[in-house]
Formats: sequence, structure tokens, C-alpha cells
Amino acid sequence: MSKNIYLTTAIPYVNGAPHIGHACDYLLADVYARYQQQKGNTVRFQAGTDEHGNKIFKKATENGQKVEEYVAENSKKFQDFIKKLGVEYTDFIRTTDKDHESRVQKIWQKLESHIYKDSYEGWYCEGCERFVTQNEYDENQGICPDHQKPYERLEEENYYLRISDFKDRIKTAIEKDELKILPEFRKKEMLRLLEDTPDVSISRPKKQLSWGVAVPGDETQVMYVWMDALSNYITVLGYPDKDISDFWPADLQIVGKDILRFHSIIWPAMLLGLGLPLPKVLLSHGFVLTNGAKMSKSLGNVVDPLEVLDKYGLPAFRYYFLRHADTFADADFTWEKYDAAYNNELANDLGNLVQRLATLCKKNQVKGLKYQPASDPIYEKYMDELYFSKAFDYIWEKVQAINKRIDEERPWELAKQDPERAVAVLKSLVEDLLEVANLLVPFLPDVAAKIQTLFTAGEILPPETPLFPKN
Ligand code: MSP
Repeated sequence: MSKNIYLTTAIPYVNGAPHIGHACDYLLADVYARYQQQKGNTVRFQAGTDEHGNKIFKKATENGQKVEEYVAENSKKFQDFIKKLGVEYTDFIRTTDKDHESRVQKIWQKLESHIYKDSYEGWYCEGCERFVTQNEYDENQGICPDHQKPYERLEEENYYLRISDFKDRIKTAIEKDELKILPEFRKKEMLRLLEDTPDVSISRPKKQLSWGVAVPGDETQVMYVWMDALSNYITVLGYPDKDISDFWPADLQIVGKDILRFHSIIWPAMLLGLGLPLPKVLLSHGFVLTNGAKMSKSLGNVVDPLEVLDKYGLPAFRYYFLRHADTFADADFTWEKYDAAYNNELANDLGNLVQRLATLCKKNQVKGLKYQPASDPIYEKYMDELYFSKAFDYIWEKVQAINKRIDEERPWELAKQDPERAVAVLKSLVEDLLEVANLLVPFLPDVAAKIQTLFTAGEILPPETPLFPKN
């Protein structure tokens, strides 16, 4: 029976153009979406942009632009980028959408019994948009390791969300995998963090933060960006104006490891406060590094994803980041590794295989085969564990096994001695390749479609240009 699946991605800040790391959320989500669609399920796939906060406001000003213009321009860059990745979302939300803003205010009002006002003095990192504890401040010697900027001392009146109202329920949900956190070691990390989490500040005085959603009923305060941003996952479905039960709770929420904490603590607290069920799975992926180092503008090692896409086209990009970036760990991007993956794996292992097999089929008059998708328990196990890079490794083992079989069974020699046997061998090789193509659908949909067309149409003809030309 067809199920409704709801899948979400983190909404990036629009304080610049997309970088290569932003591709992770979208590619993983796209694989999951296509896998679910292949199973006949209906997928709703949200993407969007996080457009409020001082960080963005300052960038717009530096650029000499009106903030509305600046965020619209950058949001468009993300939308274009996602399309370039071959990623098909169903809903796109901007946190400056009027519907979103009014819904966030209603969410705030619904949470009011868990909100209180207090004054606060502490350390804040604008890059992270969060307060840090004195311990964290001391450990990092006053400088945020992620943003290389000194923490600011803030003393102000804020509204707080009483996390303590929900701690026990969140803890149990995470422990029992009702809110499943992947990978396992992050689950443990989040449980530890939850223990130490105080109530969270969810607003800033307007004079400190003007670019945000107003707190209802208090003109002096503006909502904390995370309160506004996290709500997007339900406001995009229409909450609280519409019934969202067809798609909420989300089946899968994909985020990077740096923002898992917000999704494991504040977000569940908000949902529990609203009386909504918790998402089923939170998947936290690693970071894309370059030559083992974090990409940063100051180090001058930021890789432009459009340049990477241009070099060998989309399938190579998807291949590299979905297979060579372990779903749950940090991944390294270097041009050398990228070139090697393209030439040795895509072009040699798969491209040559397609070319060779099609040529042999043509010579021996093997016609296109009908293909009935078969189930593959190992592949499905990896996919259901959301270990997509492992599933992709497994597909590649199959590609290599077909190459090995051709070399061992030598159908071109068989054709001279026993043509009937040669045809039977070729047919079975084509069947194996069609099976690979079927498993490739979520990862490399265009390549999968090309292989399917080549080997299921009447006459099998080798492609005029190789699938992965070498340049
Ligand atoms: N605006 C928040 C998210 C709000 S979600 C309600 C934010 N934005 S971000 O632009 O900093 O990050 C967006 C996504 O990109 C996050 O999932 C983040 O982890 C991911 N990445 C940012 N840099 C990355 C890499 N270098 N590598 C992989 N993913 C990275 O956080």
C-alpha cells in the first residue's frame, strides 16, 4: 500500500552563495525521496532558506543592498543550485514568506505556557546564533572554533522556552528510538547534551536584532532565529492553519552534525509543547572538508560547487558525494580524488562496461530484454538503515562483478565456438546490468535511465558517445 512520506532538509542561511557542503543535505534527501518513490510511496520533500538574523542583516548592509533584495537574491541562488543537483523537492519555504511569519507567531502563542521572560548575561556567537556556556567559553579560550571569532558578552532581557518541561520525554523518546538519531554515536552525544541543557533563550531585544519575526504582544522583542527557522518544517505544511496529519510526523529530517543539537533538543521541546508528535528519524551527516581541512573563506580553500559540477557534469558530482562521502562521517574533497573517481570508476568500471556489453550484444544480435525489478535484501537493508554510501558501495561491487564475469567468460571467444552459449551469457550479463541500473535509480537517475533504455529497447546499439567521456 502506498504511504505518505515527509522528508525535510536544513534551511541554509542566505548570507552567501551555496558552497559544496550545502549539497550534502539535498543529495541525501533526494536519494531517499527517489527510493521511496520507486517503492510507490508519495513523497513530500521540503527545502528552503533561513533568511533572518543579524548575520544576514549585516552582510546585506556590507553589500550595500536592501536586506529584502539581498535575501531574495541569495535564496534564488540556492533554488538554482538545488535544481542543478538534479534534486526534486516538492515544497520550498523562505522564512521571510508572510505565511510563515504569521504561522510562527501563532506557534509562539500556542507555546506561551512554556515561555517566560528573564534577564540574561552570557556569551554569544553570532556565527552559530547561540549562547555558549562559561565552560564552553573557557575551553575555547573565548573564540568560537567554528567561526574563529571572539564570543560577544550579552546582557539582556529575553524570553525563554522551558526546556525542563520536556526533558524527560525527549530523553525517553531518544533512548527508545521513537525519535531515532543516526548515527548511533551522535545519539549518545545528544543524550549527554540534553542533560546539561538549560532553558533556551528564544528572543532578542529588538534593539539588538531587528531583522526577524516580531514576538506577538511585545514590541520590544524579536524571535530568536532558530525558533523561526525550526518552525519551517511544519509551517510549510500549513501548521497551525491547516491539518498536517497527512504528512506530520516527518519520516526523516536530514541535518549536518553542527546543527543536530538544535534538532534534538529545542525542536522536540517545541513540538511537545504544541502537542505534536516527534519526527521519526533525524539523520546527521558529516562535513565536506578539503584536503582534510574545513573550508573557510579566510583559508582560501572554499570549493565552488558550480566549478565541480562543470568539470564532468551532474552524475559525477552525485556519484562522488553520495559514494565517497560516507553518509555519517566527514568526507574529503580534492580535485585529485574527484578526477580519479571519475576516470577509474565512472568511466572505466561503468562507462566501459556499458560500451563493451552493448557492442557485444550488437555483434551477436542479442535484442533488448524485458526487465522485472527484483528485490535485493542487502541493498534494501542499507537503504532502510539510511546508510546510502554503503548501498552505493554495494552497487559498485555488482558493477565490478559484471566486469569480472565478462573477463572470465569471454563471450567474444565463446561466439566463435558456441554462439548459442555466447548469446545466453550475454543475456545474463545484460540482466545483471539492468539490475544495477534499477538500484542506481535513486543515486544517478539519468544514468540509470540511459542504461535501461539502451538494453531494453528492440535493438541494442552501443552509445555514440560514451556515458562518461574522458577529457
Ligand atoms: N540556517 C541553519 C539551519 C536551520 S534548519 C532549521 C544553518 N544554515 S547553514 O547554512 O549554516 O547550514 C545549512 C546546512 O548545511 C546544515 O545542515 C549544515 O550542517 C550543512 N553544512 C554547512 N557546511 C557544511 C559542510 N562543509 N559540509 C557538509 N554540510 C555542511 O545551519
